Amino acid sequence: MSSDLDETTITAAVLERVAHAPDPRVRQISEAVVRHLHALVRETRPSLDEWSAAVDFLTRSGQTCSDTRQEFILLSDALGISMLVDAIDHGPDGRATETTVLGPFYVGDPPAHPLGADLAGGAPGEPLLVRGTVSGPDGAPLAGAIVDTWQADEDGYYDVQRGEELELRARLRTDSAGRFWFWAVVPASYPIPDDGPVGDMLRAQGRHPYRPAHVHFRIAAPGCRELITHVFLAGDDYLESDVVFGVKRSLIAAVERVEQGELPDGTPIARPHARLTYDFALAPATAPTAAAAPAAEATA
Ligand code: BEZ
Ligand code: FE
Repeated sequence: MSSDLDETTITAAVLERVAHAPDPRVRQISEAVVRHLHALVRETRPSLDEWSAAVDFLTRSGQTCSDTRQEFILLSDALGISMLVDAIDHGPDGRATETTVLGPFYVGDPPAHPLGADLAGGAPGEPLLVRGTVSGPDGAPLAGAIVDTWQADEDGYYDVQRGEELELRARLRTDSAGRFWFWAVVPASYPIPDDGPVGDMLRAQGRHPYRPAHVHFRIAAPGCRELITHVFLAGDDYLESDVVFGVKRSLIAAVERVEQGELPDGTPIARPHARLTYDFALAPATAPTAAAAPAAEATA
């Protein structure tokens, strides 16, 4: 029966219409979309004007997208959906480094730099030695692993936001002992782009737009699952309220301030500097996902 539908009968009618989708996954997702969106409308009972404002919000989100701005990913991030998908896509893996959002500021094929390079390119800020290791699923160091890194500067801006030369980003390769190191500057916490619909949403929700200071990593090696993560700087004011819900305790590391030190290859550093150390562990390429496990907090 698909006529004279009312609030009590329309959901079943739409479900019946999508129940014949030939692809079972399309069928499952279509049914879930209909059930959940109809439930949302029943729960919130929008007026036509409110529904039109919702459509306008989505329209403006699409119009805000460009080659360098992806408002829908930002929306997914700010609603915690990106981290929920990330949690589902990564099953529990005792050894492997935890993952977090990629974010919108990754640039494919970043400039290759040798170990020890200064990525700051003259950007102002407190010099920061970032160093660590990459190991595989068996705990053995991985030589030649590809380490992509990118971060904000001391004012909280990425190079692509400033529209300058690519700086504070690079592709490095680990040495024969699985080590990497480079010079950057101590990054600052920063607001996500909030001059569009997602910013309007955050203000309407009474939320701040800040992310705690972090350094991004995307690490790949043969036979391993690619790792997308950040290292967060301990002590940041926004660790407990990251606007995109991306912080995990295991990803927080302290910035140490030392009078002198040495690079992993033994080269002495005879001046005061800050340093950040993190050892990454990659999961096997075949690592299970948590896709089949029901989430403890699932509500529908
Ligand atoms: C970032 O860390 O670069 C980022 C992640 C999600 C949304 C906006 C920015
Ligand atoms: Fe970031």
